[in-house]
Order: sequence, then structure tokens, then C-alpha cells
Amino acid sequence: MKDRLSEEFLKLYGRNAEIFAQAPGRIEFIGNHTDYNGGLVMGVAIDKVVMVALAPRQDRKLRFGSIRSREVVEVDMGDLTPRRREYNWVNYPLGVFKFLKEAGMSAESGFDMLDISNLPGGAGLSSSAAIEMSSAFAMSSLFGFKADLKTLVRIGRKSENEFLGMPCGILDQGVSGFGKANSIVFIDCLAEDFSTYPLPEGCKFWLFNSTKKHALVDGFYAARHAECAEAAKILSAGGDERLLRAFSLEDLESAKAAMKENVYRRAKHVIEENARVMRARELLLSGDISGVGKLLTASHRSSQLLFENSCDELDCLVDLLENRNGVYGARLSGGGFGGAVMALTDSSFSESDADDVAIAYAKRFGKKPVVFDCAAGDGAKLV
Ligand code: GLA
Repeated sequence: MKDRLSEEFLKLYGRNAEIFAQAPGRIEFIGNHTDYNGGLVMGVAIDKVVMVALAPRQDRKLRFGSIRSREVVEVDMGDLTPRRREYNWVNYPLGVFKFLKEAGMSAESGFDMLDISNLPGGAGLSSSAAIEMSSAFAMSSLFGFKADLKTLVRIGRKSENEFLGMPCGILDQGVSGFGKANSIVFIDCLAEDFSTYPLPEGCKFWLFNSTKKHALVDGFYAARHAECAEAAKILSAGGDERLLRAFSLEDLESAKAAMKENVYRRAKHVIEENARVMRARELLLSGDISGVGKLLTASHRSSQLLFENSCDELDCLVDLLENRNGVYGARLSGGGFGGAVMALTDSSFSESDADDVAIAYAKRFGKKPVVFDCAAGDGAKLV
């Protein structure tokens, strides 16, 4: 991948790249819409990445190239504002550059940049966090900016929130940054504390991408975010405003009368999901993978019924996977409203099992999901 990127860089810019960095996509293992509520979540960095290449320039231009369209978009360093819709892809690294500078990175001249990826887009694997984290690593290295990993992760999230306008939590950038081969990343999003635990031997992850477009930036996600904030406000009842993480089911039941039904259901999902994440961690540590699997599926059912961020395609995939041999559990992974279902399986689950599921799905929806398996890979790094 690095060789191909070097060649393409040379073709596009007529000179060699000097810095290379990569960052993985992620699977949301369990903890759905808990992150921006200050909650708990577990994710897995996968072995599919975005890789970026950079070379310094002498002037104040930032140039972003696209391998696919062979376009180069030029931005003046004095104008670090989001690009128009057709150049939206530039905004991911551009936002990171802007916030790295605000965090103290000194950059007097610009760069040429190109990226390449083997991460399937639109599957809810967070290719945006992967581009943000790989850019953050490459740019800090180019400009000699020494920042710890948590700072870079925060900058990636800030870029999503403030430059892209996507009110996400810290899950995607956190897992892309802190991921480790054969490990799972546990995040306490209130403390912004990241830890990793070894994954049990023999587990595999399968992704079933419904290919139904999930348009996070287009409002559904923001709507759920707003409902959670409303619940937290009611629960805080005039006192210091706290995030949903701070409340128990008992608190919720006592405030139920003051809440709209949908707001109550969203909060119930988040509060119970935090408890599921805690339990999943305990079971993981005690080696009870079947128990973990049941929690994964329970998480999906809660998304389906309480948080209402699933859809027929994802529910059908979970129904098809739930009781199959070799499957521990299955759930939607990420924002929802489309995208992919992930299944945690043992090593007996095979391509042909996956194909059975795909065929049954196609009978109902007219086309097969895109299916692939993946392993837990390393977090962002220079390469
Ligand atoms: C998206 C967001 C994450 C998280 C998940 C839902 O992936 O980017 O921050 O909120 O949805 O858990």
C-alpha cells in the first residue's frame, strides 16, 4: 500500500512524499450512542486503514490530492474554512490542520498531501476518523509538533464537531488512535480514559454491509443527540447540567412524567447500554464470550426498539445471524440508520455461512449485503 501511495504521489505532484502515516477504521463493539453522553463504549480498530503521504512546500499552500479523480484542491493557509460540498473530502484533513495549529503546532509553510485506503466506505467503519487520525500523525510529524495521543484524538473529534458539523463523541477517533492488534479498546468517555484488553483467541469479526446509505451528517444523528441532551436537561432538573451518564434507571423513572415518550426511550437505551458495556467488560475478562455475545445482540434490540436508530435491513441481518452456529452475537455498529451489522463469531463460522446469510437477505431486499471479515489491528502510526 505504501509503495502504491509513493508512486501515485510522485505521479500527481512530480516529487517524492516524505512522511507517511496510517490509521485504521473501527468497529463499534458495544456502547451505542453512549459516547457523547459521557458514557462507556468498547471498540476495535480493524486491519483496514487510510494511509496519507505528505511533502513540505516552500509557499503557504496546502494541496490535497485525490487518487480517484486525480484532482488537486488548493487551499491557502490564510483561509482555513470548510470547502464547498463537492470538495467535502478535503475538510477532514483541513479541519485537523486548523486545530493542530490552534493547539500550538507551528506551520509557516504548506504541504502536498495524498491518501489511499483499503477501508470500505459507507459501511460505518469510520473512514472519516481514519483520515483524521492519519492526517494528525503525518502533519504533527512534518511540523515537529509533539503532542500526546489523547490530544490528537481530541483534535480529530473537534474537527468533526466544529469543522464538519457532526456532533459525534470520541469513540471513532479514540479507537482509531488507541487501537492495538488483537485487542479491544475500552473508553470511559467522561474521563476520556482509554484502555485496551486482549481479545479472546479464535474470535472473528464479520461485517455485513447493508449498503443502505447512512447519512450521519444529514440530521438523524443530530436528532438523537438533541433528544439525549433534552433528557439530560430534565434529569438535571435545574441543578448543574450533567450528561446522561450521571443518571440511573431509578432517576429516569422518577422523571418519566416530565418527559416526552421518545426522549424517555432514548435515555433508557443509553443508561441500560452503559450497564451492558460494564457487564461486557466483566464477562470478557472472565472469558465468557457467549455471555458477551448475548449482550451484543441485546444492544441491537435496544437500538431497534428504544433508540430507534436501526432499520429493516439491519434488523433482518441480526435476525438471520442471531441463532446461527458459530455466532456469539450481532448488532448494528456505529451511528445506525443503515450501514453495517457486525457479528462476533468463533473460528467455525465460514465464508459459506456468511453467504447463506447474504442469500437469505437478498431474497428479501433484492441484493446481497457486502460481506467481509476483519481482525483487530493497530492504531494510528507513522509508517
Ligand atoms: C458514530 C459517531 C460516534 C458514536 C456512534 C454511535 O459512529 O461518530 O461518535 O456516537 O456513531 O455510538
